[in-house]
Amino acid sequence: MTVSRNKIAAVTFGILLLCMSSFYSVVADTSNEDELILVVGASGRTGSYVIKYLKQQDRNFIPMTSNKERAAKKISDKYNWVEADVKNPKSLDSIMVGVTAIISGLGTNIFEGPNSPEFIDYGGTKNLIDAAKRAGTVKQFIQMSSSGITQENNPLNKYGNVLVWKLKGEDYIRSSSITHTIIRAGGLTNDESGVNGARMQQGDTVPINGGLTSRGNLAAICIEALTNQNAKNKTLEVFDDETMQADAWRKDFAKLIPDLKK
Ligand SMILES: NC(=O)c1ccc[n+]([C@@H]2O[C@H](COP(=O)([O-])OP(=O)(O)OC[C@H]3O[C@@H](n4cnc5c(N)ncnc54)[C@H](OP(=O)(O)O)[C@@H]3O)[C@@H](O)[C@H]2O)c1
Repeated sequence: MTVSRNKIAAVTFGILLLCMSSFYSVVADTSNEDELILVVGASGRTGSYVIKYLKQQDRNFIPMTSNKERAAKKISDKYNWVEADVKNPKSLDSIMVGVTAIISGLGTNIFEGPNSPEFIDYGGTKNLIDAAKRAGTVKQFIQMSSSGITQENNPLNKYGNVLVWKLKGEDYIRSSSITHTIIRAGGLTNDESGVNGARMQQGDTVPINGGLTSRGNLAAICIEALTNQNAKNKTLEVFDDETMQADAWRKDFAKLIPDLKK
């Protein structure tokens, strides 16, 4: 049997078109040239997973630190670190140009003085939201937060009233005009995303030490919140759950109730 040259050319062209369309769908899923994601706390133990995954997805992002030299020493992969201090609004204005979304993994381990939770977890978050509003281009704010944050007498408040200040930061985000997702984690562990499944819930009912969350899953959930329409204007808790399928959580945003705007 002989096959004409025209037929071979047509089949080859078809295969080429198929390859191109699947190539473009992969690219379209993971990168959007118009987005510019500011990652606050990018040098942190969870922020470093966020920038690693964004880099793997070839996304457009700015890794922010308050000290470039320290960040570059801490994180072995090479990044174009951008320096700003959440306590200093002017420094935020200078890096906010063109930013379309913020993922914040901001936090402090200092419980007194100018770097305590009052000035970082609350004051810093407030400054970020205000700078985002001044910039005018920021459409979304994704916040890492803590499970147990609303529970009175939570023993973590012995450390600079950290949860009291974090909750004030959450409230400031929720009452702003910027679309938000607030993701409250349990005790953080250093597993990559997908090692365990993740359970999403609301109401902040899990007692302290009642659940763990891997930093990889938390980072992946923050990134998903950027594009998942069902994540918008919601506050949720997330815990690793080995009985659940890895990545099944992506559909679970749809089951959550949106926040009431204050
Ligand atoms: N640890 C837990 O078990 C736990 C549980 C639930 C929720 N969380 C929350 O989850 C988030 C991530 O936690 P993590 O343990 O990954 O945090 P982390 O390692 O302590 O990182 C915190 C980040 O905040 C940045 N930062 C601090 N002060 C700053 C300032 N003045 N200006 C700019 N950046 C500043 C630091 O960056 P530079 O030092 O480079 O500036 C650092 O990258 C935090 O919000 C934390 O409260 C933690």
